[in-house]
Amino acid sequence: LSPGRLAVVGLGPGDAGTCTPDVVTELTAATDRVGYGRYLDLAAGIVPLADGAVEHRTDNREEADRAAHAIQLAAEGRHVVVISSGDPGIFAIAAAVMEQLDGTSTDVEVVVHPGVSAAQVAAARAGAPLGHDFCVISLSDNLKPWSIIERRLDAAAGADFVLALYNPKSKARPDQFARAVDVLLQHRDSSTPVVLGRSLGRPGEVVEHVTLGQLTEAEIDMATVVLVGSSQTRTIAGRWTYTPRSHPG
Ligand SMILES: C[S@@+](CC[C@H](N)C(=O)[O-])C[C@H]1O[C@@H](n2cnc3c(N)ncnc32)[C@H](O)[C@@H]1O
Repeated sequence: LSPGRLAVVGLGPGDAGTCTPDVVTELTAATDRVGYGRYLDLAAGIVPLADGAVEHRTDNREEADRAAHAIQLAAEGRHVVVISSGDPGIFAIAAAVMEQLDGTSTDVEVVVHPGVSAAQVAAARAGAPLGHDFCVISLSDNLKPWSIIERRLDAAAGADFVLALYNPKSKARPDQFARAVDVLLQHRDSSTPVVLGRSLGRPGEVVEHVTLGQLTEAEIDMATVVLVGSSQTRTIAGRWTYTPRSHPG
């Protein structure tokens, strides 16, 4: 049996305009699509499933199983595409695929295609909040202890990075977001500009310009990415937020 191919792709936020041509080519050619159901639905909205192609839907938490299954299908000669939202290497499936490949020998051809990540989309909608050094942190404690999250928030805020916060708040951990904001307020003024991007590239998209002091009252969920400005980040008339290219010495 000839080995197949495994393409790990990121759709971008979910609309066709920000899905790269390489990813469209992989979706079109695939015999099998593997992913969380929500992402398979987004993919089908961008490139409809070809006749005879198969969807393998999994729960969002079953990353290791999903990656192993995709490698197995490719080893059987299938052309498999493993789908994530945004970029597949940012808090997503590409690392899980690499973990499965690590220490195993396989003839399967593997390729990873980048996608436009949620922070990039939010930043573009808002102006240029990521114009200077920034740090990307997930607030989910599914895969790391909360103590590490607090330590990293404290270090990044203390070093005056702009922060892009993924997985900010879920129903399972309602209080942690307020604790994260408290850590940031130890280093930043409450007037610090913050951009909220919710359901970017999807129906109901919202982009809001608020301040750090308003953050605990803002509407934030797991479909939101939060960009917290540095000491240099500014807002223009509540419409644009940007971080200048230079930082004072
Ligand atoms: C598991 S991470 C996946 C990130 C994804 N790989 C990326 O690069 O955008 C999920 C988090 O990404 C952010 N996110 C993903 N898609 C989004 C979208 N369309 N609009 C706003 N935030 C999004 C949210 O913070 C969400 O909780």
